[in-house]
Amino acid sequence: MRRALVAGNWKMHGSLAESGRLVDELVALRAGAGGAEVIVCPPFVYLSEIARRAGGAAIGLGAQDVCAEESGAHTGEVSAAMLADVGCSYVIVGHSERRSLYGEDDALVARKFVAAQRHGLVPILCVGESLAERESGAMPAVVTRQVDVVLQVAGVAAFAGAVVAYEPVWAIGTGRTASAGQAQEVHALIRGRIAASDATIAASLRILYGGSVKAANAAELFAMPDVDGGLVGGASLQAGEFATICAAAGP
Ligand code: 13P
Repeated sequence: MRRALVAGNWKMHGSLAESGRLVDELVALRAGAGGAEVIVCPPFVYLSEIARRAGGAAIGLGAQDVCAEESGAHTGEVSAAMLADVGCSYVIVGHSERRSLYGEDDALVARKFVAAQRHGLVPILCVGESLAERESGAMPAVVTRQVDVVLQVAGVAAFAGAVVAYEPVWAIGTGRTASAGQAQEVHALIRGRIAASDATIAASLRILYGGSVKAANAAELFAMPDVDGGLVGGASLQAGEFATICAAAGP
């Protein structure tokens, strides 16, 4: 039995005051008190403050990115040890915005995945195809390649302590959600790929859907057998909307 996970990716939004208010509202709404595990992923600079405010409220903390290196002369980067130090238990790796806007390739994403786990963080590995890739029929090859590189670098055992998020690029921030059937098809593909190496690990792997998840479509998506929760962008910035999504993922 896989416990659903709902992660709010706040991206580069809000101020310190707004982020604090948002998490206070989520605590008041008891967003993390239902059946699903709930985490928020604020910008790096707000992590400590959000950890302090969410403490004890069953709302976990994740970061949006991590450096693949351990420490040292990497100006502007944040290490996995630092994220663990300020209370993160999760970190998103390979988000499509990192891949497309900041040139992260599959090999770097795999190194970030490994760096996160070295410090006890659970990586949320993002995969997903662009609109052009989907329309040309390349979706299965793209998603399989993105998973396979991490499998080769980290090994299948590493997936026992990881989460995968399927985020079709064409559905991110566009209001265009994958249908429940489209999401299920890709989630089953991902699980099958892991199962080819280890069926037990595949059966317990949580695979989240991301891309224009809203209160209005969450329940239908989460009802799919291989959809184990959501990675939520825009809708995670509204406490009431996000709390409704979290409730939809509960048992
Ligand atoms: P939206 O929910 O705003 O489409 O963003 C999805 C996403 O990228 C979450 O990581």
